[in-house]
Amino acid sequence: MSDRYLLPEPVTSVAGWQALGGGQAVDIARRLGSDDTIEELGTAGLRGRGGAGFPTARKWSGVRSSPGTHRYVVCNAAEGEPSSFKDRALLRANPYQVIEGLAVAALTIGAREAFIGIKASFRPEMARVHRAIEEMQAAGLAGDVPISVVGGPDEYLFGEEKALLEVIEGKPPMPRLLAPYEQGLFAAGSQMGWESVPREPGHGPGRDISNPTLVNNVETLANVGHILLRGAEWFRSMGTAGSPGHAVATVVGDVVHPGVAEIDLGMRLSDLIAEVGGGARPGRRVKAAFSGISNPVVTADRLDTPLTYEDMEAIGSGLGAVGFAVYDDSACMVEVAFQYSRFLWIESCGQCPACKLGTQEITHRLNEIEACRGSEEDVAVIGAQLAKVTDANRCFLGTEEQRVISSILRAFPEEFAAHLEVEGNCPNPRTDLIAPKIVELAGGVATYDEHHRKKRPDWTYDP
Ligand SMILES: Cc1cc2nc3c(=O)[nH]c(=O)nc-3n(C[C@H](O)[C@H](O)[C@H](O)COP(=O)(O)O)c2cc1C
Ligand code: SF4
Repeated sequence: MSDRYLLPEPVTSVAGWQALGGGQAVDIARRLGSDDTIEELGTAGLRGRGGAGFPTARKWSGVRSSPGTHRYVVCNAAEGEPSSFKDRALLRANPYQVIEGLAVAALTIGAREAFIGIKASFRPEMARVHRAIEEMQAAGLAGDVPISVVGGPDEYLFGEEKALLEVIEGKPPMPRLLAPYEQGLFAAGSQMGWESVPREPGHGPGRDISNPTLVNNVETLANVGHILLRGAEWFRSMGTAGSPGHAVATVVGDVVHPGVAEIDLGMRLSDLIAEVGGGARPGRRVKAAFSGISNPVVTADRLDTPLTYEDMEAIGSGLGAVGFAVYDDSACMVEVAFQYSRFLWIESCGQCPACKLGTQEITHRLNEIEACRGSEEDVAVIGAQLAKVTDANRCFLGTEEQRVISSILRAFPEEFAAHLEVEGNCPNPRTDLIAPKIVELAGGVATYDEHHRKKRPDWTYDP
């Protein structure tokens, strides 16, 4: 089995995958049994690639031991994080390794059904996934658990795990209150002391209907078969003690050729920008980089930070999904703050007033400052709102606003001051800046979701 995940030629058939040594993971997991499978992933030190870096073995073992008679597993293929394209790259390159990982997860935690939640707009990836499931099942390589594909909406929150479960249940992408291991798919709500819907067939009386559900990212699951086949030590031969293995990284923004590539963790961010993105555009220098829209800005003086969970946290940022948006010295960081805040405001679902109203207030005031109509008072109100935008929130989106926007204010005070001093026009105008939600990334060109500029905070669109 090839030890790379993104091969030069995509794997387009199960026979092609077997010719590369693939297709063995479910058998290995059967032989090992659940305890040893989880132990192998734990020894490998695999951490979730969806953004938070949660240890995968701990998650699997937690869901497996949570009380409940029915368990489910979900592959998160929503890929809504701006500046990330790696899940689509993986699904295009080789969906078989992802389905194998999902089948192993289902077997290991004792799930009765597995789901892949993917945006309906990801048409080529969805077609590849459907075909690969059929082929893997026909070849007897996908375990005994049914696998369903659920096409979801384009909303950012679709990828949030508690909203993802709502979508699989046929509802809008609004995060539910409890975590998937506490209130999983098709749980009847008795864990809150009452039942809002009829019980799923097969459940007896009692309180064990929480249906603990495991949610893992596409790339996390892609790692599973490779680790089982090659062993934990192989995985640990790459990366660092705290961040073993490799990652599929995305680089977009102000670089010569945006791209996706497989890297060993521990590579410096500056090397990633140079090697995968071709470096800054001619005559420009990199001013800032963001790991998605979830982590504080990385400024130019920190670009030599190794890409590990521990090093990125040590500089006050985070590794996220290893998808970076790069900004050069022509970018206005007030505009970047406005665009990122606007994205989060628009995408906030509004279940938590502190989040929806806070992101709205911050966005409007950033817009005023960016248009050079702002005052010191706007900066003060933004600071006050950032302090409470996280209050009583169901999901992490409000915290993203706090982390990202406050980091830009702290890192680039002179740019905000310049906007307060002039009247009428941004001193560094650029009309192409947008939160880089990627629609397509191929041949060194990234296309962003320009349609998002028309999206309204109630998720309808301007005509
Ligand atoms: C607002 C928001 C959006 C998210 N979007 C995605 C996404 O598109 N894809 C993804 O895998 N995880 C996303 N996540 C993280 C998931 O909630 C979850 O942590 C992840 O799928 C767990 O998988 P892992 O343990 O394999 O990383 C998002 C989280 C938040 C708060
Ligand atoms: S924190 Fe924001 S996005 Fe998350 S559930 Fe609450 S309102 Fe919705």
